[in-house]
Amino acid sequence: MGVIEEIKFSGREHAGVDPAFRQDVLDGLAQTQKAIPARWFYDLAGSELFEQITTLDEYYPTRTEIGLLERHGADVGAVIGTGRAVVEFGSGSSLKTPLLLRAIDPAAYVPLDISGEFLRQSSEALAVKFPQFPVLPVEADFTRPVHLPADVRDMPMLGFFPGSTIGNMVPRVAIDLLRSMRATLGNGAFLLIGFDRVKDVDRLVAAYDDARGVTAAFNLNLLHRINRELDGDIAVSAFRHVARWNPDWSRIEMHLEAVEDVAFHVCGQGFRMAAGETIHTENSHKYTPNQARLLLQAAGWGPSASWTDDGDDFLLVLAEATELRTAP
Ligand code: AVI
Repeated sequence: MGVIEEIKFSGREHAGVDPAFRQDVLDGLAQTQKAIPARWFYDLAGSELFEQITTLDEYYPTRTEIGLLERHGADVGAVIGTGRAVVEFGSGSSLKTPLLLRAIDPAAYVPLDISGEFLRQSSEALAVKFPQFPVLPVEADFTRPVHLPADVRDMPMLGFFPGSTIGNMVPRVAIDLLRSMRATLGNGAFLLIGFDRVKDVDRLVAAYDDARGVTAAFNLNLLHRINRELDGDIAVSAFRHVARWNPDWSRIEMHLEAVEDVAFHVCGQGFRMAAGETIHTENSHKYTPNQARLLLQAAGWGPSASWTDDGDDFLLVLAEATELRTAP
């Protein structure tokens, strides 16, 4: 496997049927508005397609966030000081993580990921690059509070959650996740997190419906994955990729739309879709700086600094754990 840039959800090649994938697909296809969680995009083929997406002209978030880390890494260091344990929520990116680690002089690096395979590969590479501090990977579901290794438990913490992955969650789930991060990192912690900003709708739609059709292939790969892993017989050519802006939720939605009436089976169960009906596959929420601040505050994080690019495309927020008080 090559270097996978941005694996943020569980996703790996499975030897047999993954019961959670089976359950999510069968449950999701039984709903009136069919929907399958976006984390199932990331099998090997999907992960490689996502890596390609991050290099597309239309897909500005990755390069913009890298630019912000290059330009403001030292500013982050000035606020948080040296000697923190950096806890990354996800396996780490081969570009963004070194930028941060070089800028802040940490005492340890702890990547958390549900997928042990990606975690092991990226941790080994980082341990070679940064022999001056320990790299301590933890295989865990970070949507719940995680028990950190004893070696770092007494260190001051910096959480790192780049990529605007927070945008792939509806606000209620995003707040639950940010609360869990607050619980994992403890009092006195900071969190450095990336948000994609609200902007011109045409640019947003283009970022999720690129001219070369890479994002379309990424979305349609989910149907191929269902056929491969769940004994499906979906005619993939009867579906098209749709990316649309939902102004009520301030988000780009990706759907797979049936272009004709279709019938198919998954794990022996039959399903029908009328032409025009869709399977909702992803939400990517876009935030104004105020909305990002409110989201963080709702979860026990007080923003202490933030940086944006010249085009106001992306926001990097450094937040500090607030006291958990209920009054006034
Ligand atoms: C992983 N995540 C932040 C990406 C996004 O922009 O929402 C996933 C993606 N979907 C289509 N293009 C990129």
